[in-house]
Amino acid sequence: MKILFTFLWICSVARATMYPDDHFDFVTEIKDRDQLNELVNQAIKKSQTLFVRWVSDPDHADCLRQAPTWNRAVRAFADNKKVVFGDINLSEADTLKGAPHWPSRYGWPTIRYFNRETGVDGADYEQKTNQKMHDELRDFDVMVDYIEKAGNTVLCDLNGKHCNKMEKDYIKLVKKKSLDELILLRKRLYAMDVNLLVKDIQEWNLRRRRILSKLVKQKEIKETGKSTTGNEL
Ligand SMILES: *[C@@H]1O[C@H](CO)[C@@H](O)[C@H](O)[C@H]1NC(C)=O
Repeated sequence: MKILFTFLWICSVARATMYPDDHFDFVTEIKDRDQLNELVNQAIKKSQTLFVRWVSDPDHADCLRQAPTWNRAVRAFADNKKVVFGDINLSEADTLKGAPHWPSRYGWPTIRYFNRETGVDGADYEQKTNQKMHDELRDFDVMVDYIEKAGNTVLCDLNGKHCNKMEKDYIKLVKKKSLDELILLRKRLYAMDVNLLVKDIQEWNLRRRRILSKLVKQKEIKETGKSTTGNEL
């Protein structure tokens, strides 16, 4: 089984395409400024936040490296009605170069969000660490924290909000565990290299990590008054 997974993984790396086949079932491909403005206005009308990722012309290595995390995040939020996503390929979208978004100003890829507060100009991504932006945004939790904060939503919270059935069942199962057990479980999940897992298991691993981090934080605060992790609840 492991050999099969490794083989599948090597094939997908060798192909090195930016998006999985079903990516544009969850994401709109934006071709010009009018289309972007219309999507922003639609999002504002529905009280949504639109996240847009620009990739360079031609495909830049940093864009390729960050792509799997973006792809997993948009897929994970596919059923969340508060957020929508768009992709821009600058080789095919001349009118989306330059002002006011200045793609590439902070490196590749460029990710911005648009909602009622930002209007069609959108807002910059604000970095959380001293890493390069694309390295920081390769971390699934950083990417999802950003979407949750800017989108004023949550992927899945401990009360079950926006969670899928599997997450709800999992929360019920692990909620009763002790702090030490939870920390051990979380450590095991973080020790796995998600790139070596098949796609559906990748997402499930990443979703459970977040649940465990939230539960650990909640229990730590309850038992000791403070938390050792920076993850927001
Ligand atoms: C962007 O468009 C160019 C030109 O059509 C194409 O060669 C390239 O593969 C596209 N990149 C992505 C990420 O879709």
